[in-house]
Amino acid sequence: MRVAVVGSGYVGLVSGACFADLGHEVILVDNDENKLAALRNGEVPIHEKFLPELLERHRGERIKFSGDLLAATRESDAVFIAVGTPPTESGDADLSYVESVAHEISAGINGYKVVVEKSTVPVYTSQWIRTIITRNGADPAQFDVASNPEFLREGTAVTDFLYPDRIVVGVETERAAEVMRELYGPLTSEWYYGRADAIPRPEAAKVPPRLIITSTKSAELIKHASNAFLAMKISFMNAVASICESVGANVEQVKDGIGTDTRIGPRFMNPGIGYGGSCFPKDLMAFRAVAKENGYDFRLLDEVIRINEEQRHRFLRKVRSVLWTFRGKRLGVLGLAFKGGTDDIRESPALLMVQELLREGCHISAYDPAAMERAKEVLNSGVEFAADPYQAAKGADAVLILTEWEEFANLDLDRLRSVVKYPIVLDGRNLYDPAVMVEHGFSYYSVGRAVALAEESTTASGLKKRERA
Ligand code: UDX
Repeated sequence: MRVAVVGSGYVGLVSGACFADLGHEVILVDNDENKLAALRNGEVPIHEKFLPELLERHRGERIKFSGDLLAATRESDAVFIAVGTPPTESGDADLSYVESVAHEISAGINGYKVVVEKSTVPVYTSQWIRTIITRNGADPAQFDVASNPEFLREGTAVTDFLYPDRIVVGVETERAAEVMRELYGPLTSEWYYGRADAIPRPEAAKVPPRLIITSTKSAELIKHASNAFLAMKISFMNAVASICESVGANVEQVKDGIGTDTRIGPRFMNPGIGYGGSCFPKDLMAFRAVAKENGYDFRLLDEVIRINEEQRHRFLRKVRSVLWTFRGKRLGVLGLAFKGGTDDIRESPALLMVQELLREGCHISAYDPAAMERAKEVLNSGVEFAADPYQAAKGADAVLILTEWEEFANLDLDRLRSVVKYPIVLDGRNLYDPAVMVEHGFSYYSVGRAVALAEESTTASGLKKRERA
């Protein structure tokens, strides 16, 4: 099929590249000429596994880049809207980019097309898109609007697209449903999975994915409700972690005990310094605003958001309780991205924590496998960027683990121990077994678990060893 994807941001770029891999002809449309030039040149603006391979495979063949939305619409059977929906001051989504795209698409309706909202949008958006396209002169019989929310996680977006748990499609007509079925046919028929050059299947993926056809309003709500539910799961475990700390229980054991109940499930149950990123914080605010506008005061979401923010403050208090005073302290910070596997720092709890520690007068030496370039743009003075975790930890009063990178879960602990000033690790992501940390001579503070103190003698001998060195 011929597909236009409007907006070559995160969602647009990944969706466009994956549709091309499914065999469709894709035009990626953006109004940023510099971005288009970079993409045509082979640059990949985001850090995402398999995306460079897919763009390389299809660039100039099945994927074209264009600034001309009108022409792209005319040439396509389906037009995906994947532009940004940033939050306004009151928390609801700003839909003006979606509206202006809908306006422009209108003149390009020269035969039956399905206009698909892919950006995360509030309920009723597809109705509005339909109204705007019709209001600007398109024949209502020549197009349908569908809602096809994405559930892509950063870092695994390509495999999330190609091996999804489910594909949700909201439509109002059978004709639109047929187009959407055909678009995703290579996945639902398993044709894609039989191909020798298919992107490898993640271990846990079940194929074929189920295609769930709903009304457009239901599809819009599914997206918001899914993200809100996942954020709620995380906040719930963070609240449980706080109780564990008070009573001396171990949240990892509690998590295991709860998560093995198949009704609950083990995923998105990791306590820590809270969720961040471009989706959860924004989508929760938007969902709360949508609920309110429609007469429901969704106070549960307020609490999810409150627990999430409190989680960062709790951790900061923990750091303070270990260091006593902040001014002039040297901290080795491991992690700046909002989660492991990405260079994205939007709403990153790690970055917010670093900013707070800088305000308190700490000196920070930070390392992140992917997010340092982006972090440099927002963190100016007081931060040194290190070449690896050990350089970041060199001479540190304490080491802070703030992002769940796999690399940080596999540190050479003896090497780490030999470079720090004091063997103190505060782990905001529970990457280590406290007993192992103590064995290696560290005092270890994590979330929802008892403090594990290095034995005095170990600490003293460690210090002596270093002094001798
Ligand atoms: C999320 C949704 O998962 C995805 O379906 C949607 O399309 C976009 O938003 P993403 O923002 O990429 O994806 O990240 P995700 O992996 O969901 O993590 C979000 C945040 O929650 C991160 O800050 C992460 O560190 C945190 N998290 C996640 C936890 O604190 N605990 C967990 O158990 C899981």
